[in-house]
Amino acid sequence: MLLEKLNWRYATKKMDPSKTVSEDKVERIVEAARLAPTSSGLQPFEVIVVTNKDVLAKIREVAWNQAQITDGSHLLVFAAWDNYTAERINTMFDLVNQERNFTNEGWENYRQMLLNTYPARDAQVNYEHAARQAYIGFGMSIAQAAFEGVDATPMEGFDPAKVDEILGLRERGLRSVTLLPLGYRQPDGDWLVNLKKVRRPTEDFVTTVK
Ligand SMILES: Cc1cc2nc3c(=O)[nH]c(=O)nc-3n(C[C@H](O)[C@H](O)[C@H](O)COP(=O)(O)O)c2cc1C
Repeated sequence: MLLEKLNWRYATKKMDPSKTVSEDKVERIVEAARLAPTSSGLQPFEVIVVTNKDVLAKIREVAWNQAQITDGSHLLVFAAWDNYTAERINTMFDLVNQERNFTNEGWENYRQMLLNTYPARDAQVNYEHAARQAYIGFGMSIAQAAFEGVDATPMEGFDPAKVDEILGLRERGLRSVTLLPLGYRQPDGDWLVNLKKVRRPTEDFVTTVK
């Protein structure tokens, strides 16, 4: 059950550097992000899977020196489009037409509406919209990692401009949004592992409108 897995997972503070997550698990964790719903289905983000030790060490330096980055076996970097361009929008709409093998007037009108709206907006507004979509994929990967019994640490504690530079993301029209180190917990050395998971009570979280 998903809720059991979500209770099992926690933002791992200490990963065991001797353990490696298998490639099939990593693939499924990334696949969950690819399958995430996104606004208009544009999927305006990518996932970069980093295993190179030197690159991981460089990223750790600009990420508050968080050890999970180098102790984990894989680092997922969620990177959003820096802007919505006509080309990016058209590529996605064309792919849908090609994969489904038909065109539809309503769909084409919707494409035009996006083309008339998104590219004219400020790039920062568009990036922020894209980043929100990246967070949906990020959440899916966090849940899938829990499903796989893989530990993960969701991270915003890093300098995105520096990570962009290390990975050459800006040249590719991408900006880093979040990090997700993957690995296996090392309970001795992890101050959080045995602490109770704390969430606001449901009654403070949910309002029912009947
Ligand atoms: C977007 C986001 C950014 C986070 N950034 C960090 C981080 O940089 N370092 C870290 O150790 N934990 C980070 N966390 C973990 C949260 O502190 C943690 O998820 C929260 O306290 C709830 O605890 P739990 O995940 O263990 O249930 C982040 C979580 C999210 C969702």
